Amino acid sequence: MEVVIAPAQELAVLAAEAIEALLRRRPQAVLGLATGSSPSQVYDELARRHAEGGLSFARARGFMLDEYVGLAADHPERYRNVIAADIAERVDWQADQVQGPDGLASDLSAACAAYERAIADAGGVDLQLLGIGTDGHIAFNEPGSSLASRTRIKTLTTQTRVDNARFFDGDVEQVPTHCLTQGLGTIMEARHLVLLATGRHKAEAVHQLVEGPVSALWPATVMQFHPHATVLVDEAAASRLQLASYYRQTYDSKPAWQGL
Ligand code: GLP
Repeated sequence: MEVVIAPAQELAVLAAEAIEALLRRRPQAVLGLATGSSPSQVYDELARRHAEGGLSFARARGFMLDEYVGLAADHPERYRNVIAADIAERVDWQADQVQGPDGLASDLSAACAAYERAIADAGGVDLQLLGIGTDGHIAFNEPGSSLASRTRIKTLTTQTRVDNARFFDGDVEQVPTHCLTQGLGTIMEARHLVLLATGRHKAEAVHQLVEGPVSALWPATVMQFHPHATVLVDEAAASRLQLASYYRQTYDSKPAWQGL
């Protein structure tokens, strides 16, 4: 696992550079898209590179990590709409090139199985962007999630609903109680995981992710088993890392050509 400690804007540029390098090398790449505030500067940087540098998504595909269950099709916080506004509509992506689990399906289990098939049919995810919840969840894999889980319905923890209430007028009652989420096993099949975390409120989750024992209590720790995982954190999110100086030394001496 590689840990890079830098200011938030630099982290966003590093993630965007990795995505641009992938798309230039493989225009038909499959990108894994995260919602939440963590990747928003990455999306800004990608939109800028599309507008100013000709970066094209025209042949690429996008798969979202998760979706709330039951939010109306036109609800602005429905993740499909969030991803459309944050990135898909800002680049040359047609609506059908980006998919997410269908939180409005009448048969949610069938929708989860169909989503797994769609990812597999696309050849799997090349690069998966991730954020992390304060309770250590990735996507919506809350504590207690099976480390081998696949896309399924989950109940959100009170902590996650409180954390996400800021997107719902600060009213936790408006935050859905359930979601569909790629499982940890699903996410682990992506060929490169790039997780972003900023702010002191993420420091404990980041410490557990990188340095804690692998445990369903901190679901992101499963990433320690991934052969190509990159963790991009600012100073505040890195503030509980025991080996921070080693991670800095390693990154500072890394040859530039290596990329993430
Ligand atoms: C949300 C999302 C996750 C996200 C995480 C952190 O609930 N389902 O995909 O990574 O929680 O969100 P944020 O980046 O806004 O802190």
